[in-house]
Amino acid sequence: MSERIIPVVDQRSSLILPAPAKLQAGTTLKDQLQRPLHDLRISVTDRCNFRCSYCMPKEVFHKDYPYLPHSDLLTFEEITRTAKVFVALGVRKIRLTGGEPLLRKNIEVLIAQLAALRTPDGQALDITLTTNGSLLARKAQALKDAGLQRITVSLDGLDDSIFRQMNDVDFPVNEVLAGIEAAQAAGLSHIKVNMVVKRGTNDHEILPMARHFQGSGVTLRFIEYMDVGATNGWRMDEVLPSAQVISRIQAALPLVPLAAAAAGETAQRWGYANAKGQYDPQLGEVGVISSVTQAFCRDCNRARLSTEGQLYLCLFASQGYDLRSLIRSHLSDEEMVAQVAAIWQGRSDRYSELRSSLPPDASQTPARPRVEMSYIGG
Ligand code: GTP
Ligand code: 5AD
Ligand code: SF4
Ligand code: SF4
Repeated sequence: MSERIIPVVDQRSSLILPAPAKLQAGTTLKDQLQRPLHDLRISVTDRCNFRCSYCMPKEVFHKDYPYLPHSDLLTFEEITRTAKVFVALGVRKIRLTGGEPLLRKNIEVLIAQLAALRTPDGQALDITLTTNGSLLARKAQALKDAGLQRITVSLDGLDDSIFRQMNDVDFPVNEVLAGIEAAQAAGLSHIKVNMVVKRGTNDHEILPMARHFQGSGVTLRFIEYMDVGATNGWRMDEVLPSAQVISRIQAALPLVPLAAAAAGETAQRWGYANAKGQYDPQLGEVGVISSVTQAFCRDCNRARLSTEGQLYLCLFASQGYDLRSLIRSHLSDEEMVAQVAAIWQGRSDRYSELRSSLPPDASQTPARPRVEMSYIGG
């Protein structure tokens, strides 16, 4: 059989920088669609020890895959300086991602540096991290001690054989569950579990997952399988719409809709109901992230910084802006702020909304190559 040829985007060409902008004191930075900048997602490594087929399929991310050399990565000091620039422009939440962020050596040192940053009015930031949980049992306490407040763990099923199939490296589910318990024991609060649902592969795990986490203090969220990147062979018929996820849970465990907790939130929230049909906070909630069937670009306040310092304005972008060159060219913080402000002001990305108007499956032959999620982070 001949090998599948997959176009992987050239991550090394960058967009041309716009002329720096000056923000008037007291005004909120807005993009072309009037969206503020609130959330910065920082990828700290493009490597992962799992090979989830929807993210890093084995046939592409094999042992000879050209991962970034260490000298190309932003250092912790460069990441922290960049974060400071973004905080000056309105960022209040920072999420560390990967690849698998816990594979980056001494990640807790970076967390401590980010935890020390303050907003212009003196507040600490909301700092969190998305992990596959494989190293969490070992690292939870050190992460908490470094200043991490909360954490999100990816977990695609409870059944051991399904989980091993989803991660495609035969990793046992018990070790991830032990990682979640360690995170709880270490005092990390607001723990979330993200489950990507692929129809026909792990959708029968929806109800067992809901039962397992109901009343546990952990918020479970179901994510529609997305056409992100160019390597996962995405097909619309493998997407289970969130509306069906909710109705399957509803049939066994009554749910009531909850209001959004924050502007620009990715998830729609549903609370478990008591016998009177009212939300019972003791039972907790679930969320659904419906980027395929109900795009949420209108409020998208997220910017993404790749492992090597490229700034991406959309998960589905082809190219980013080379911030690493700016950092290494000795610009002052003020000059960096003016440059990033201009980039955000020019932003008009809304890929998921536009995809809704494409014919089904058209997105797997995109007009432009797309960056991989393991490179810019979920
Ligand atoms: P919380 O503040 O903890 O609620 O985080 P979050 O929902 O912003 O982030 P999280 O990383 O948990 O996002 C969950 C999943 O939603 C990601 O893994 C992606 O699959 C998807 N997602 C997050 N942000 C975006 C986005 O901007 N666009 C699209 N299309 N999907 C997104
Ligand atoms: N569709 C939806 N979510 C994805 N993730 C990675 N690839 C995809 C995809 N194709 C998200 C998952 C995972 C996180 C690291 O990235 O939420 O938990
Ligand atoms: Fe690794 Fe997460 Fe991607 Fe799975 S989804 S391959 S755990 S980065
Ligand atoms: Fe934001 Fe792009 Fe996702 Fe839309 S598709 S929500 S613009 S990252």
